[in-house]
Amino acid sequence: MISLVTSTFASLIALFFVIGYVTYAFFNRSAGRAEIGSEIELAANRKEYFDDEILEGKRLQKMQLLGVLMLATITIGLPAYWILEPSRQAGATSGKENRFIEWGSNLFAPTAEGGFNCAGCHGGMKGPGGAAPYTITDSKTGEVKSVTWKAPAINTVFYRFDESEVRFILQYGRPFSPMSPWGIEGGGPLNAQQIDTLLAYLKSIQIPREDCIVADAKPLNCEGGHLPVVEQEKVQAAAEKSVADGTYSSIGEALFNLELGSGGFSCARCHTPGWSWGEPGQTGSGAFGWNLTGGATNTHFSTEQEMINFIKAGSKFGAKYGVQGQGSGRMPGFGDLLTAEQIQQIVNYVRNEL
Ligand code: HEC
Ligand code: HEC
Repeated sequence: MISLVTSTFASLIALFFVIGYVTYAFFNRSAGRAEIGSEIELAANRKEYFDDEILEGKRLQKMQLLGVLMLATITIGLPAYWILEPSRQAGATSGKENRFIEWGSNLFAPTAEGGFNCAGCHGGMKGPGGAAPYTITDSKTGEVKSVTWKAPAINTVFYRFDESEVRFILQYGRPFSPMSPWGIEGGGPLNAQQIDTLLAYLKSIQIPREDCIVADAKPLNCEGGHLPVVEQEKVQAAAEKSVADGTYSSIGEALFNLELGSGGFSCARCHTPGWSWGEPGQTGSGAFGWNLTGGATNTHFSTEQEMINFIKAGSKFGAKYGVQGQGSGRMPGFGDLLTAEQIQQIVNYVRNEL
């Protein structure tokens, strides 16, 4: 803020001089130069100079006063500059962040507003989840049909993925779905800086975390922390309700399959074929994510705890997981979204029911 005051102040001074100059020029526009005189008057070395009386008196004092004034300017000005500089730098940084968020929001906006319509598919400017029309081709019969594909909530995407993973999703899209590649790398229209501004915007719309390590940070800079408890309770209530009304037989099954935030919270979106367009095939039998049925996946982890840890953290590009797994960064981490108990119930379901 102070930095803004400083630059306003500087602009005022600049304005003062510009106006002063223009005024001076205006009133003197028709004044000619003084008549050129004789050499005696013109040549400095032939002119008579001030006598000692003036040179060592008034004039000297004037110069000394000028010196003192300049010294005062430096002694006051330098520390003032030193004090204001950090906030000027902070202002410049947050100014850049805010500009990026604004540019990103322009890209995110619906087509009608000149954006790339992320908002149109993902349920609005806050990204709560939506759906998009899509055409799928049956790989066996070649039959083509129109479906409505769920577009997950992305106001929680940074709970599931880290920045490089979200960048990958934006660059390459999900090529089997309405989510097309947006980055030049994937054949899309957006350059690296535009992707950066989208990332800044996506960070700015994340549901603010609870228990952030940096207490007063914006969601943008907040490290750690989990989904607010009220939101986790909503997820739990929805799971309990669907068990009570007989849709699912356990909390674990409900959490695996439920459509919350258009699947932003569910496993079935990636692990059950057809789930995204409302025609789920065999639960957990594999789609974008691996087939988890028949117990094979259990053998990929040496212990139950190892599987729990994997689901909490998600996969990391190139890193080992389980016994002989290597992550691609595409399996999200659920540790900040769901409670430890909820993850335990999902794992019970995956290990014993699928
Ligand atoms: C035509 C509709 C459509 C548009 C436009 C679109 N998306 Fe998507 N997006 C989807 C769908 C559908 C998915 C889920 C794909 C799947 O099932 O794996 C998705 C997935 C995502 C994901 C991954 C979320 C997750 O948890 O798996 C992110 C992030 C994302 N979109 C961001 C964006 C951004 C940013 C834009 C704008 C540049 C955008 N999307 C534009 C439909 C769209
Ligand atoms: C955005 C899509 C996506 C979602 C949502 C998702 N997964 Fe995955 N999952 C994957 C991918 C992709 C892999 C393969 C590992 C990799 O590529 O890193 C995977 C791997 C796994 C594995 C290891 C499989 C093996 O045998 O190696 C398990 C277990 C698993 N997921 C469970 C879950 C559970 C439980 C949930 C819900 C809490 C879930 N996944 C949600 C995409 C997803």
